[in-house]
Amino acid sequence: MNNVTAQILHRLSKAGDFLSGEELCLEFGITRSAVWKHIQLLRAEGYHVDAITGLGYRLSGLTGRPVEAEVAPFLNSSRFGRHILYHGVTVSTNLLAKSLAGDGSPEGTMVVADSQTGGRGRMGRTWVSPSGVNLYFSLILRPELPSIRVPQLTLLVAAAIHQALSSVAPDLDPLIKWPNDILLNGRKVCGVLCEMQSEPDFTHFVVVGIGINVNQTELTTELQEIATSLFLETGRLFSRPELLASVLNHFEPLYDAWLLQDDLGFILPYLEKYSLLQSKQVTVDQLKQTISGKVSGISPGGELMLDGKDGQTLLVSSGEAHLRKEHFN
Ligand code: BTN
Repeated sequence: MNNVTAQILHRLSKAGDFLSGEELCLEFGITRSAVWKHIQLLRAEGYHVDAITGLGYRLSGLTGRPVEAEVAPFLNSSRFGRHILYHGVTVSTNLLAKSLAGDGSPEGTMVVADSQTGGRGRMGRTWVSPSGVNLYFSLILRPELPSIRVPQLTLLVAAAIHQALSSVAPDLDPLIKWPNDILLNGRKVCGVLCEMQSEPDFTHFVVVGIGINVNQTELTTELQEIATSLFLETGRLFSRPELLASVLNHFEPLYDAWLLQDDLGFILPYLEKYSLLQSKQVTVDQLKQTISGKVSGISPGGELMLDGKDGQTLLVSSGEAHLRKEHFN
């Protein structure tokens, strides 16, 4: 959707009633026939726009897709989500965002897709991305920080998603599973994949990719054991534009605060309060080894802290954590 079409959609959606063709002409500095063309483009996108002689145009329904014009009314961020590139289908929003970032797109640029044909998860896994139901989006960031701090972003994003889920569905009890998952009743509802291009002292860009299972009503047998959606947990449908905006509204102030800090210290109490792993026995699978211990917390640098066998504290900076069996129930 081009920018003027999106702005007209936003304007009609805010008005909630008829807006005359003349008002739109004046506001956007375009002719009546140009206004008509934009209305036709909106209709082609699936929007129902009433056109009545003497009254003008009225939007009689939104599509519920996470497009800029439907997200914007819920946003209170200043940068994040103010420029959304929406695709009905793409291979992976992370792939697209990385290419845009490499071409110089500014911080805050977002790629959103209704579905992905090659959604990517951590550790080379795929992220199942059916159309019309979930959120798949990637945000370009350009933190002026050494790359060593970038892994902390995953936890910061997890905190923002946790806050967003708690605000749109206060009856839910989401937990953060270090470093990048959000779980509901023991099943994964959201994953974060941060990818960066950097030199040791300079971060060129980070792409924060987020997938949230929102209104998905069915999961493959394989996924049923380990994954869920907001709908499957509550029996209710959620507005994808509103949830997307809420994630960005929560993330932007956290990100701005983090840029001014040395580490994650300011958000640690929150992360630990809602940590699935806190005080639990876990094993963490890494590329070449497995580490076990009882989780004593998260370090300001974002590492998982384990009490090891002989009383020493182990700092784990990467890997996949698993709860020991005795903690499953
Ligand atoms: C994980 O838990 O393994 C991370 C999953 C991240 C999935 C999201 S969906 C939007 C973005 N595009 C991708 O290809 N992956 C991320």
